[in-house]
Amino acid sequence: MGRAFVYVILGGGVAAGYAALEFTRKGVSPGELCIISEEPVAPYERPALSKGFLLPESPARLPSFHTCVGANEERLTPKWYKEHGIELVLGTRVKSVDVRRKKLLTATGETISYKILLIATGARALKLEEFGVDGSEAENVCYLRDLADANGLVNVMQSCSSGNAVVIGGGYIGMECAASLAINKINVTLVFPEVHCMARLFTPKIASYYEEYYQSKGVKFVKGTVLTSFEFDSSGKVMAVNLRDGSQLPADLVVVGIGIRPNTSLFEGQLTLEKGGIKVNGKMQTSNDSVYAVGDVAAFPVKLFGETRRLEHVDSARKSAKHAVAAIMEPKKSGEFDYLPFFYSRVFGLSWQFYGDNVGEAVHFGDYSSGTFGAYWISKGHLVGSFLEGGTKEEYEAIAKATSLKPPVEDLAELGRQGLNFALTI
Ligand code: FDA
Ligand code: NAD
Repeated sequence: MGRAFVYVILGGGVAAGYAALEFTRKGVSPGELCIISEEPVAPYERPALSKGFLLPESPARLPSFHTCVGANEERLTPKWYKEHGIELVLGTRVKSVDVRRKKLLTATGETISYKILLIATGARALKLEEFGVDGSEAENVCYLRDLADANGLVNVMQSCSSGNAVVIGGGYIGMECAASLAINKINVTLVFPEVHCMARLFTPKIASYYEEYYQSKGVKFVKGTVLTSFEFDSSGKVMAVNLRDGSQLPADLVVVGIGIRPNTSLFEGQLTLEKGGIKVNGKMQTSNDSVYAVGDVAAFPVKLFGETRRLEHVDSARKSAKHAVAAIMEPKKSGEFDYLPFFYSRVFGLSWQFYGDNVGEAVHFGDYSSGTFGAYWISKGHLVGSFLEGGTKEEYEAIAKATSLKPPVEDLAELGRQGLNFALTI
Protein backbone atom coordinates (compact mmCIF):
# COMPACT_ATOMS: atom_id res chain seq x y z
CA MET A 1 0.00 0.00 0.00
CA GLY A 2 1.11 3.56 -0.53
CA ARG A 3 0.11 6.88 -1.93
CA ALA A 4 -0.34 7.81 -5.58
CA PHE A 5 0.10 11.20 -7.22
CA VAL A 6 -0.08 12.41 -10.79
CA TYR A 7 3.08 14.48 -10.38
CA VAL A 8 5.92 13.87 -7.94
CA ILE A 9 8.89 16.21 -7.47
CA LEU A 10 11.84 14.33 -5.96
CA GLY A 11 13.94 16.82 -4.00
CA GLY A 12 12.83 19.95 -2.16
CA GLY A 13 15.37 22.61 -3.13
CA VAL A 14 15.35 25.62 -5.40
CA ALA A 15 14.13 23.85 -8.53
CA ALA A 16 11.33 22.12 -6.59
CA GLY A 17 9.96 25.42 -5.29
CA TYR A 18 9.96 27.09 -8.70
CA ALA A 19 8.42 23.97 -10.27
CA ALA A 20 5.61 23.99 -7.68
CA LEU A 21 4.75 27.60 -8.47
CA GLU A 22 4.66 26.84 -12.18
CA PHE A 23 2.49 23.74 -11.63
CA THR A 24 -0.13 25.89 -9.88
CA ARG A 25 0.04 28.48 -12.66
CA LYS A 26 -0.54 25.76 -15.25
CA GLY A 27 -3.59 24.52 -13.37
CA VAL A 28 -2.55 21.51 -11.28
CA SER A 29 -5.48 20.32 -9.13
CA PRO A 30 -5.34 19.87 -5.35
CA GLY A 31 -4.05 16.42 -4.43
CA GLU A 32 -2.26 15.84 -7.75
CA LEU A 33 1.23 17.09 -6.80
CA CYS A 34 3.64 15.94 -4.11
CA ILE A 35 7.17 17.09 -3.18
CA ILE A 36 9.42 14.64 -1.34
CA SER A 37 12.46 16.17 0.38
CA GLU A 38 15.12 14.93 2.73
CA GLU A 39 15.25 18.41 4.24
CA PRO A 40 12.83 19.16 7.08
CA VAL A 41 11.71 22.52 5.65
CA ALA A 42 9.83 23.69 2.57
CA PRO A 43 11.99 24.72 -0.44
CA TYR A 44 14.11 27.81 0.10
CA GLU A 45 16.57 30.01 -1.77
CA ARG A 46 19.86 28.16 -1.14
CA PRO A 47 22.08 31.15 -2.13
CA ALA A 48 21.01 32.93 1.08
CA LEU A 49 22.98 30.40 3.15
CA SER A 50 26.41 31.81 2.27
CA LYS A 51 25.29 35.45 2.31
CA GLY A 52 22.41 36.90 4.37
CA PHE A 53 22.22 33.85 6.66
CA LEU A 54 25.80 34.44 7.89
CA LEU A 55 25.50 38.16 8.60
CA PRO A 56 26.31 39.26 12.16
CA GLU A 57 23.37 41.72 12.26
CA SER A 58 19.78 40.87 11.31
CA PRO A 59 20.72 37.63 9.57
CA ALA A 60 18.22 36.14 7.11
CA ARG A 61 16.16 33.34 8.66
CA LEU A 62 13.29 31.24 7.38
CA PRO A 63 10.52 31.86 6.52
CA SER A 64 11.95 35.02 4.90
CA PHE A 65 13.82 33.22 2.10
CA HIS A 66 11.49 30.43 1.04
CA THR A 67 11.24 30.15 -2.74
CA CYS A 68 10.31 31.97 -4.84
CA VAL A 69 11.40 35.33 -3.38
CA GLY A 70 14.76 35.13 -5.17
CA ALA A 71 13.06 35.89 -8.49
CA ASN A 72 10.64 38.42 -7.03
CA GLU A 73 7.84 35.88 -7.13
CA GLU A 74 5.47 34.75 -4.38
CA ARG A 75 6.99 33.40 -1.16
CA LEU A 76 5.92 29.77 -0.92
CA THR A 77 5.53 29.07 2.80
CA PRO A 78 4.24 25.72 4.11
CA LYS A 79 0.81 27.43 4.32
CA TRP A 80 0.96 28.19 0.58
CA TYR A 81 1.53 24.52 -0.26
CA LYS A 82 -1.39 23.56 1.98
CA GLU A 83 -3.70 26.13 0.42
CA HIS A 84 -2.82 24.81 -3.04
CA GLY A 85 -3.33 21.18 -2.12
CA ILE A 86 0.34 20.31 -2.67
CA GLU A 87 1.57 17.51 -0.42
CA LEU A 88 4.92 18.28 1.21
CA VAL A 89 6.60 15.08 2.37
CA LEU A 90 9.50 16.56 4.34
CA GLY A 91 12.37 15.04 6.30
CA THR A 92 12.03 11.99 4.07
CA ARG A 93 14.79 10.48 1.99
CA VAL A 94 13.89 8.50 -1.10
CA LYS A 95 16.05 5.41 -1.02
CA SER A 96 15.12 3.77 -4.30
CA VAL A 97 13.21 4.49 -7.48
CA ASP A 98 11.81 2.05 -10.01
CA VAL A 99 11.25 4.10 -13.16
CA ARG A 100 9.73 1.15 -15.03
CA ARG A 101 7.03 0.67 -12.39
CA LYS A 102 6.84 4.44 -11.65
CA LYS A 103 7.34 3.97 -7.92
CA LEU A 104 9.53 5.49 -5.23
CA LEU A 105 10.43 3.91 -1.91
CA THR A 106 11.16 6.21 1.03
CA ALA A 107 13.52 5.53 3.91
CA THR A 108 10.42 5.37 6.14
CA GLY A 109 9.18 2.40 4.09
CA GLU A 110 6.41 4.16 2.18
CA THR A 111 5.83 3.53 -1.52
CA ILE A 112 4.78 6.55 -3.56
CA SER A 113 3.73 6.14 -7.16
CA TYR A 114 3.55 8.74 -9.91
CA LYS A 115 2.52 9.29 -13.50
CA ILE A 116 5.19 11.94 -14.07
CA LEU A 117 8.37 12.29 -12.01
CA LEU A 118 10.43 15.50 -11.84
CA ILE A 119 13.93 14.83 -10.51
CA ALA A 120 15.28 17.83 -8.58
CA THR A 121 17.78 16.12 -6.30
CA GLY A 122 20.51 18.75 -6.75
CA ALA A 123 23.97 17.85 -5.54
CA ARG A 124 26.00 17.00 -2.48
CA ALA A 125 29.19 18.62 -1.23
CA LEU A 126 32.38 16.68 -1.92
CA LYS A 127 34.03 15.48 1.29
CA LEU A 128 37.69 15.82 2.23
CA GLU A 129 37.81 12.05 2.68
CA GLU A 130 37.31 11.75 -1.10
CA PHE A 131 40.68 13.53 -1.41
CA GLY A 132 42.32 11.30 1.19
CA VAL A 133 42.03 13.64 4.23
CA ASP A 134 40.21 12.45 7.37
CA GLY A 135 38.44 14.74 9.83
CA SER A 136 35.14 15.90 8.29
CA GLU A 137 33.27 14.67 11.37
CA ALA A 138 35.04 17.07 13.76
CA GLU A 139 32.52 19.55 15.20
CA ASN A 140 34.44 22.60 13.93
CA VAL A 141 34.82 21.36 10.34
CA CYS A 142 31.91 22.80 8.34
CA TYR A 143 30.49 22.19 4.89
CA LEU A 144 27.77 24.35 3.42
CA ARG A 145 25.06 22.80 1.30
CA ASP A 146 21.84 22.97 3.31
CA LEU A 147 20.16 24.72 6.19
CA ALA A 148 21.47 22.21 8.75
CA ASP A 149 25.03 22.91 7.56
CA ALA A 150 24.41 26.67 7.75
CA ASN A 151 23.09 26.40 11.32
CA GLY A 152 26.18 24.36 12.22
CA LEU A 153 28.48 26.96 10.69
CA VAL A 154 26.76 29.81 12.55
CA ASN A 155 27.12 27.94 15.87
CA VAL A 156 30.84 27.30 15.39
CA MET A 157 31.36 30.86 14.13
CA GLN A 158 29.69 32.32 17.21
CA SER A 159 31.82 30.16 19.51
CA CYS A 160 35.10 31.44 18.05
CA SER A 161 34.70 35.19 17.79
CA SER A 162 37.98 36.90 16.80
CA GLY A 163 39.41 33.41 16.24
CA ASN A 164 41.06 31.83 13.20
CA ALA A 165 39.24 30.27 10.30
CA VAL A 166 40.80 28.27 7.50
CA VAL A 167 38.66 28.10 4.38
CA ILE A 168 39.53 25.24 2.02
CA GLY A 169 38.70 25.84 -1.66
CA GLY A 170 38.90 28.96 -3.80
CA GLY A 171 35.57 28.54 -5.60
CA TYR A 172 32.13 29.96 -4.86
CA ILE A 173 31.71 28.58 -1.35
CA GLY A 174 35.27 29.49 -0.38
CA MET A 175 34.99 33.07 -1.63
CA GLU A 176 31.51 33.77 -0.24
CA CYS A 177 32.20 32.15 3.13
CA ALA A 178 35.58 33.88 3.48
CA ALA A 179 33.82 37.23 2.99
CA SER A 180 31.05 36.38 5.47
CA LEU A 181 33.55 35.19 8.09
CA ALA A 182 35.63 38.36 7.68
CA ILE A 183 32.46 40.43 8.17
CA ASN A 184 32.03 38.49 11.44
CA LYS A 185 35.53 39.69 12.48
CA ILE A 186 37.13 36.27 12.19
CA ASN A 187 40.71 35.98 10.89
CA VAL A 188 40.40 34.14 7.60
CA THR A 189 42.97 32.27 5.55
CA LEU A 190 41.79 30.90 2.22
CA VAL A 191 43.70 27.85 0.92
CA PHE A 192 43.37 26.45 -2.59
CA PRO A 193 45.46 24.55 -5.13
CA GLU A 194 45.10 26.90 -8.10
CA VAL A 195 47.21 30.00 -8.87
CA HIS A 196 44.25 32.31 -8.33
CA CYS A 197 40.74 32.29 -6.89
CA MET A 198 37.63 31.28 -8.88
CA ALA A 199 39.81 29.51 -11.41
CA ARG A 200 36.81 27.99 -13.20
CA LEU A 201 35.58 31.44 -14.25
CA PHE A 202 37.91 34.35 -13.49
CA THR A 203 40.90 35.39 -15.56
CA PRO A 204 44.09 36.14 -13.56
CA LYS A 205 43.36 39.88 -13.95
CA ILE A 206 39.79 39.60 -12.64
CA ALA A 207 40.94 37.34 -9.80
CA SER A 208 43.66 39.75 -8.73
CA TYR A 209 41.06 42.51 -8.22
CA TYR A 210 39.03 40.33 -5.82
CA GLU A 211 42.09 38.94 -4.05
CA GLU A 212 43.38 42.47 -3.39
CA TYR A 213 39.95 43.56 -2.20
CA TYR A 214 39.73 40.57 0.17
CA GLN A 215 43.25 41.29 1.44
CA SER A 216 42.16 44.86 2.21
CA LYS A 217 39.50 43.27 4.44
CA GLY A 218 42.13 41.18 6.24
CA VAL A 219 41.67 37.87 4.37
CA LYS A 220 44.93 35.98 3.68
CA PHE A 221 45.49 33.76 0.65
CA VAL A 222 47.60 30.60 0.56
CA LYS A 223 47.63 29.47 -3.06
CA GLY A 224 49.01 26.50 -4.95
CA THR A 225 48.71 24.03 -2.09
CA VAL A 226 46.19 21.75 -0.40
CA LEU A 227 45.33 20.51 3.03
CA THR A 228 46.97 17.18 3.86
CA SER A 229 45.83 16.57 7.46
CA PHE A 230 44.38 18.10 10.63
CA GLU A 231 45.77 18.43 14.15
CA PHE A 232 43.12 17.55 16.75
CA ASP A 233 42.85 18.40 20.45
CA SER A 234 41.93 15.77 23.06
CA SER A 235 38.21 16.36 22.48
CA GLY A 236 38.51 15.69 18.76
CA LYS A 237 38.26 19.33 17.70
CA VAL A 238 40.53 20.56 14.93
CA MET A 239 43.27 22.92 16.23
CA ALA A 240 45.36 23.35 13.10
CA VAL A 241 45.59 22.32 9.47
CA ASN A 242 48.70 20.94 7.81
CA LEU A 243 49.34 21.91 4.21
CA ARG A 244 51.25 20.06 1.51
CA ASP A 245 53.80 22.88 1.35
CA GLY A 246 54.84 21.93 4.91
CA SER A 247 53.22 24.88 6.66
CA GLN A 248 50.67 24.72 9.45
CA LEU A 249 47.77 27.12 10.08
CA PRO A 250 46.00 27.44 13.44
CA ALA A 251 42.26 26.86 13.12
CA ASP A 252 39.27 27.36 15.43
CA LEU A 253 36.99 26.80 12.44
CA VAL A 254 37.45 25.11 9.07
CA VAL A 255 35.05 25.66 6.16
CA VAL A 256 35.32 23.25 3.24
CA GLY A 257 34.10 24.11 -0.27
CA ILE A 258 35.82 21.77 -2.69
CA GLY A 259 33.06 21.19 -5.21
CA ILE A 260 29.95 19.06 -5.57
CA ARG A 261 28.63 15.86 -7.13
CA PRO A 262 25.11 15.71 -8.58
CA ASN A 263 22.75 13.31 -6.77
CA THR A 264 22.23 10.80 -9.57
CA SER A 265 22.77 7.52 -7.72
CA LEU A 266 19.06 6.58 -7.55
CA PHE A 267 18.93 6.54 -11.34
CA GLU A 268 22.21 4.92 -12.34
CA GLY A 269 21.45 1.99 -14.65
CA GLN A 270 17.89 3.30 -15.22
CA LEU A 271 18.36 6.64 -17.01
CA THR A 272 21.01 7.92 -19.41
CA LEU A 273 23.67 10.00 -17.65
CA GLU A 274 26.03 12.58 -19.18
CA LYS A 275 28.55 15.08 -17.80
CA GLY A 276 27.99 13.66 -14.33
CA GLY A 277 24.28 14.47 -14.47
CA ILE A 278 21.01 13.06 -15.79
CA LYS A 279 20.78 13.65 -19.52
CA VAL A 280 17.65 15.47 -20.70
CA ASN A 281 16.40 16.85 -24.00
CA GLY A 282 15.24 20.43 -24.69
CA LYS A 283 12.02 19.68 -22.82
CA MET A 284 14.01 18.56 -19.75
CA GLN A 285 12.79 15.00 -20.40
CA THR A 286 15.13 12.12 -19.54
CA SER A 287 15.66 8.88 -21.44
CA ASN A 288 12.38 7.72 -19.84
CA ASP A 289 9.29 9.59 -21.19
CA SER A 290 7.66 9.88 -17.76
CA VAL A 291 10.71 11.30 -16.03
CA TYR A 292 12.06 14.87 -16.22
CA ALA A 293 15.16 16.33 -14.52
CA VAL A 294 16.01 19.93 -13.63
CA GLY A 295 18.51 22.04 -11.69
CA ASP A 296 22.03 21.01 -10.68
CA VAL A 297 21.39 17.33 -11.48
CA ALA A 298 20.32 17.86 -15.11
CA ALA A 299 22.64 17.84 -18.13
CA PHE A 300 20.70 19.71 -20.80
CA PRO A 301 21.34 21.01 -24.34
CA VAL A 302 22.48 24.64 -24.24
CA LYS A 303 21.38 25.84 -27.69
CA LEU A 304 23.71 28.82 -27.67
CA PHE A 305 26.78 26.56 -27.41
CA GLY A 306 25.37 23.60 -29.35
CA GLU A 307 26.31 21.20 -26.58
CA THR A 308 25.07 19.51 -23.43
CA ARG A 309 26.00 21.21 -20.16
CA ARG A 310 25.29 20.74 -16.49
CA LEU A 311 25.11 24.06 -14.66
CA GLU A 312 25.36 24.50 -10.88
CA HIS A 313 23.62 27.84 -10.48
CA VAL A 314 20.34 29.09 -9.15
CA ASP A 315 19.05 30.84 -12.27
CA SER A 316 19.40 27.64 -14.26
CA ALA A 317 17.56 25.71 -11.49
CA ARG A 318 14.68 28.21 -11.53
CA LYS A 319 14.31 28.43 -15.30
CA SER A 320 14.84 24.74 -16.07
CA ALA A 321 12.15 23.90 -13.48
CA LYS A 322 9.72 26.32 -15.06
CA HIS A 323 10.47 24.98 -18.52
CA ALA A 324 10.02 21.34 -17.49
CA VAL A 325 6.63 22.06 -15.91
CA ALA A 326 5.46 23.89 -19.05
CA ALA A 327 6.60 20.90 -21.13
CA ILE A 328 4.75 18.50 -18.82
CA MET A 329 1.50 20.47 -18.59
CA GLU A 330 1.35 21.94 -22.11
CA PRO A 331 3.44 19.61 -24.27
CA LYS A 332 2.11 20.93 -27.59
CA LYS A 333 2.73 24.57 -26.74
CA SER A 334 6.17 24.25 -25.20
CA GLY A 335 9.35 24.54 -27.27
CA GLU A 336 12.96 23.66 -26.60
CA PHE A 337 14.69 25.19 -23.57
CA ASP A 338 16.72 28.15 -24.84
CA TYR A 339 18.89 29.20 -21.94
CA LEU A 340 21.59 31.82 -21.58
CA PRO A 341 23.88 30.67 -18.73
CA PHE A 342 23.93 33.25 -15.94
CA PHE A 343 26.09 33.23 -12.79
CA TYR A 344 26.48 35.93 -10.14
CA SER A 345 27.91 36.57 -6.72
CA ARG A 346 27.66 39.26 -4.07
CA VAL A 347 30.31 39.63 -1.37
CA PHE A 348 31.17 42.57 0.87
CA GLY A 349 29.94 45.56 -1.16
CA LEU A 350 30.88 43.89 -4.44
CA SER A 351 28.58 42.38 -7.01
CA TRP A 352 29.30 40.74 -10.35
CA GLN A 353 27.35 39.00 -13.08
CA PHE A 354 28.48 36.67 -15.84
CA TYR A 355 26.59 35.52 -18.94
CA GLY A 356 27.45 32.88 -21.51
CA ASP A 357 30.66 30.90 -21.72
CA ASN A 358 34.23 31.74 -20.64
CA VAL A 359 36.03 30.13 -23.57
CA GLY A 360 38.36 31.63 -26.15
CA GLU A 361 40.23 34.87 -25.65
CA ALA A 362 39.36 37.24 -22.80
CA VAL A 363 39.26 40.97 -23.54
CA HIS A 364 39.27 43.08 -20.38
CA PHE A 365 37.62 46.47 -20.25
CA GLY A 366 36.95 49.32 -17.83
CA ASP A 367 39.03 50.69 -15.01
CA TYR A 368 40.07 47.90 -12.66
CA SER A 369 40.86 50.43 -9.95
CA SER A 370 37.44 52.12 -10.11
CA GLY A 371 35.17 49.24 -9.15
CA THR A 372 33.37 49.04 -12.50
CA PHE A 373 35.12 46.74 -14.95
CA GLY A 374 34.60 43.59 -16.92
CA ALA A 375 35.65 41.22 -19.64
CA TYR A 376 34.30 39.71 -22.83
CA TRP A 377 35.22 36.27 -24.13
CA ILE A 378 35.65 35.88 -27.89
CA SER A 379 35.63 32.44 -29.47
CA LYS A 380 35.77 31.68 -33.21
CA GLY A 381 35.27 35.38 -34.00
CA HIS A 382 32.13 35.81 -31.86
CA LEU A 383 31.38 37.22 -28.45
CA VAL A 384 30.38 34.24 -26.27
CA GLY A 385 30.74 35.46 -22.68
CA SER A 386 30.54 38.67 -20.65
CA PHE A 387 31.53 39.54 -17.09
CA LEU A 388 30.78 42.77 -15.29
CA GLU A 389 31.53 43.98 -11.75
CA GLY A 390 29.73 46.96 -10.29
CA GLY A 391 27.26 47.45 -13.15
CA THR A 392 23.82 49.05 -13.15
CA LYS A 393 20.66 47.07 -13.95
CA GLU A 394 20.71 48.46 -17.50
CA GLU A 395 24.38 47.55 -17.96
CA TYR A 396 23.82 43.97 -16.80
CA GLU A 397 20.84 43.68 -19.13
CA ALA A 398 23.00 45.01 -21.97
CA ILE A 399 25.79 42.44 -21.48
CA ALA A 400 23.18 39.67 -21.22
CA LYS A 401 21.55 40.75 -24.48
CA ALA A 402 24.87 41.18 -26.28
CA THR A 403 25.99 37.70 -25.20
CA SER A 404 22.74 36.09 -26.32
CA LEU A 405 23.19 37.65 -29.78
CA LYS A 406 26.74 36.23 -30.18
CA PRO A 407 27.82 39.17 -32.38
CA PRO A 408 30.91 38.86 -34.59
CA VAL A 409 34.01 40.61 -33.25
CA GLU A 410 37.02 41.21 -35.49
CA ASP A 411 39.15 43.71 -33.64
CA LEU A 412 39.80 42.68 -30.04
CA ALA A 413 41.73 45.86 -29.19
CA GLU A 414 38.82 47.97 -30.44
CA LEU A 415 36.39 45.86 -28.37
CA GLY A 416 38.52 46.54 -25.30
CA ARG A 417 38.48 50.26 -26.04
CA GLN A 418 34.69 50.29 -26.50
CA GLY A 419 34.20 48.28 -23.32
CA LEU A 420 30.69 48.48 -21.94
CA ASN A 421 29.63 50.74 -24.82
CA PHE A 422 29.90 47.77 -27.14
CA ALA A 423 27.10 46.01 -25.24
CA LEU A 424 25.11 49.19 -24.58
CA THR A 425 24.91 50.10 -28.26
CA ILE A 426 24.29 46.70 -29.78
P1 FDA B 1 19.09 21.86 -4.44
O1 FDA B 1 20.38 21.40 -3.89
O2 FDA B 1 18.65 23.25 -4.19
O3 FDA B 1 17.94 20.90 -3.91
C1 FDA B 1 18.06 19.48 -3.92
C2 FDA B 1 17.07 18.93 -2.93
O4 FDA B 1 16.91 17.53 -3.14
C3 FDA B 1 17.49 19.09 -1.47
O5 FDA B 1 16.38 19.53 -0.73
C4 FDA B 1 17.89 17.67 -1.07
O6 FDA B 1 17.73 17.42 0.31
C5 FDA B 1 16.91 16.87 -1.88
N1 FDA B 1 17.27 15.47 -2.10
C6 FDA B 1 18.39 14.99 -2.71
N2 FDA B 1 18.36 13.64 -2.75
C7 FDA B 1 17.20 13.26 -2.15
C8 FDA B 1 16.61 11.99 -1.86
N3 FDA B 1 17.17 10.84 -2.21
N4 FDA B 1 15.41 11.98 -1.21
C9 FDA B 1 14.80 13.14 -0.85
N5 FDA B 1 15.32 14.36 -1.10
C10 FDA B 1 16.50 14.41 -1.74
N6 FDA B 1 23.91 29.81 -7.26
C11 FDA B 1 23.91 31.05 -7.84
O7 FDA B 1 23.65 31.16 -9.04
N7 FDA B 1 24.17 32.15 -7.10
C12 FDA B 1 24.47 32.07 -5.78
O8 FDA B 1 24.73 33.10 -5.15
C13 FDA B 1 24.49 30.79 -5.16
N8 FDA B 1 24.81 30.66 -3.86
C14 FDA B 1 24.84 29.42 -3.26
C15 FDA B 1 25.18 29.31 -1.92
C16 FDA B 1 25.25 28.06 -1.32
C17 FDA B 1 25.61 27.97 0.13
C18 FDA B 1 24.99 26.90 -2.09
C19 FDA B 1 25.09 25.53 -1.45
C20 FDA B 1 24.66 27.00 -3.43
C21 FDA B 1 24.57 28.28 -4.02
N9 FDA B 1 24.24 28.42 -5.36
C22 FDA B 1 24.20 29.66 -5.94
C23 FDA B 1 23.88 27.25 -6.17
C24 FDA B 1 22.37 27.04 -6.17
O9 FDA B 1 21.87 27.13 -4.87
C25 FDA B 1 22.05 25.68 -6.77
O10 FDA B 1 22.43 25.73 -8.13
C26 FDA B 1 20.58 25.34 -6.63
O11 FDA B 1 20.22 25.21 -5.29
C27 FDA B 1 20.24 24.07 -7.38
O12 FDA B 1 18.89 23.78 -7.17
P2 FDA B 1 18.37 22.27 -7.19
O13 FDA B 1 16.91 22.34 -6.85
O14 FDA B 1 18.81 21.61 -8.42
O15 FDA B 1 19.14 21.56 -6.00
P1 NAD C 1 33.55 25.14 -6.85
O1 NAD C 1 33.56 24.13 -7.93
O2 NAD C 1 33.09 26.53 -7.14
O3 NAD C 1 35.01 25.29 -6.25
C1 NAD C 1 35.72 24.18 -5.81
C2 NAD C 1 37.08 24.65 -5.38
O4 NAD C 1 37.65 23.59 -4.63
C3 NAD C 1 38.07 24.90 -6.49
O5 NAD C 1 38.05 26.24 -6.90
C4 NAD C 1 39.37 24.57 -5.83
O6 NAD C 1 39.96 25.76 -5.34
C5 NAD C 1 39.02 23.75 -4.64
N1 NAD C 1 39.62 22.42 -4.56
C6 NAD C 1 39.46 21.39 -5.42
N2 NAD C 1 40.13 20.34 -4.95
C7 NAD C 1 40.72 20.70 -3.79
C8 NAD C 1 41.54 20.05 -2.84
N3 NAD C 1 41.91 18.78 -2.99
N4 NAD C 1 41.93 20.74 -1.75
C9 NAD C 1 41.55 22.02 -1.60
N5 NAD C 1 40.77 22.68 -2.46
C10 NAD C 1 40.38 22.03 -3.54
O7 NAD C 1 32.69 24.48 -5.69
P2 NAD C 1 32.24 25.08 -4.27
O8 NAD C 1 32.89 26.37 -4.02
O9 NAD C 1 32.40 23.96 -3.31
O10 NAD C 1 30.70 25.35 -4.50
C11 NAD C 1 29.77 24.27 -4.41
C12 NAD C 1 28.57 24.54 -5.27
O11 NAD C 1 27.84 25.64 -4.77
C13 NAD C 1 28.88 24.84 -6.72
O12 NAD C 1 27.94 24.15 -7.49
C14 NAD C 1 28.64 26.31 -6.85
O13 NAD C 1 28.18 26.64 -8.14
C15 NAD C 1 27.55 26.53 -5.81
N6 NAD C 1 27.62 27.91 -5.30
C16 NAD C 1 27.41 28.91 -6.19
C17 NAD C 1 27.47 30.20 -5.74
C18 NAD C 1 27.24 31.30 -6.75
O14 NAD C 1 26.89 31.01 -7.88
N7 NAD C 1 27.41 32.56 -6.35
C19 NAD C 1 27.76 30.49 -4.42
C20 NAD C 1 27.98 29.43 -3.54
C21 NAD C 1 27.91 28.13 -4.01
